[in-house]
Amino acid sequence: MIVVVGGAGYVGGAVVEGLLQAEREVCVIDDFSTGHPEALKVLSADIPIYRGDMADTELIQQVAESHEVEVVMHFAALALVGESMEQPARYWEQNFIKSKHMFDAWLEHGVDQFIFSSTAATYGEPKTIPITEAHPTEPVNPYGHSKRAVEWYLEDLHETHGVQSVALRYFNAAGAGDRVGEDHTPETHLIPLILETAAGERDHLEIYGTDYETRDGTCLRDFVHVKDLFRGHLAALEKLDELGCEQLNLGTETGNTVREVIETARDVTGREISASEADRRPGDPARLVASNKKAREMLNWQPRHDLEQIIADAWRWKQNHPQGY
Ligand SMILES: NC(=O)c1ccc[n+]([C@@H]2O[C@H](COP(=O)([O-])OP(=O)(O)OC[C@H]3O[C@@H](n4cnc5c(N)ncnc54)[C@H](O)[C@@H]3O)[C@@H](O)[C@H]2O)c1
Repeated sequence: MIVVVGGAGYVGGAVVEGLLQAEREVCVIDDFSTGHPEALKVLSADIPIYRGDMADTELIQQVAESHEVEVVMHFAALALVGESMEQPARYWEQNFIKSKHMFDAWLEHGVDQFIFSSTAATYGEPKTIPITEAHPTEPVNPYGHSKRAVEWYLEDLHETHGVQSVALRYFNAAGAGDRVGEDHTPETHLIPLILETAAGERDHLEIYGTDYETRDGTCLRDFVHVKDLFRGHLAALEKLDELGCEQLNLGTETGNTVREVIETARDVTGREISASEADRRPGDPARLVASNKKAREMLNWQPRHDLEQIIADAWRWKQNHPQGY
């Protein structure tokens, strides 16, 4: 049994969908704080769903006693960079302290294999592009700090207790699964904001900064399809025994600027999508592009979806779910 913690969220939901399609045995723990029970309903899956906190030791005991748990996939987190600057204590508590208690509790029940959703935010301001895993990790906000701290704890658990883990550092997760998609409140991610504008829910989109050192002056990001993230998790699951303790980037090595994303969305949707230029936001690096060499070599993983496909899938989901779930 694979326990998916945070499986009612955006990336977790897409991974649950993929695992079910791959006929894996799955259960979900989620407190539905930002996730959606409907995400699990649309999968029409008859899987055990445990509503509760990731670090609830009684709940973990209940799950451990009800199933033969092999691996815990850990997606649950607060993930808004700006909010983390205002509420660092909450981010440390939810993202690091609860993760630590959760791993400790699973270990007490003999579960010592974890796949952790980490992030490009662990690197901070990039010194070199593409960013390899050897790049210094100097996060510039509490969100990045709290995620990097979880990776350190997993490294220590490997050294001291032989715990096997892979931290997958996603770049910009995007796109949609076959039935599940992105429904964050508030929505801060570029592609859903563009599609809300395409759908007429916003009258325009703001482009933050047009004087960056990139090919058209707007920020460059690496968008990776959630279906490719799922394939990364599946590959990590299959190689977990050999890997020991690793951190691996999941990105495409392809950077697209904000203007390119808007242009592609105009082509895909056939809608106008008006955009206005605004000042830079503090803390936004000009370029964030992953090297995925390590994931290619260690997991035999390669992304299969390009930006057009990402936007087409996100648009399809949006049209089928105009109000979200
Ligand atoms: N979305 C991205 O672009 C992106 C990029 C890099 C890394 N990540 C990481 O991927 C993970 C998933 O991100 P997402 O965008 O799917 O977020 P999300 O908010 O959609 O999903 C998080 C899920 O975890 C659940 N959850 C939160 N706190 C919980 C708790 N204490 N106990 C139980 N469940 C809890 C939420 O209800 C939700 O279902 C996060 O760890 C995030 O840091 C996301």
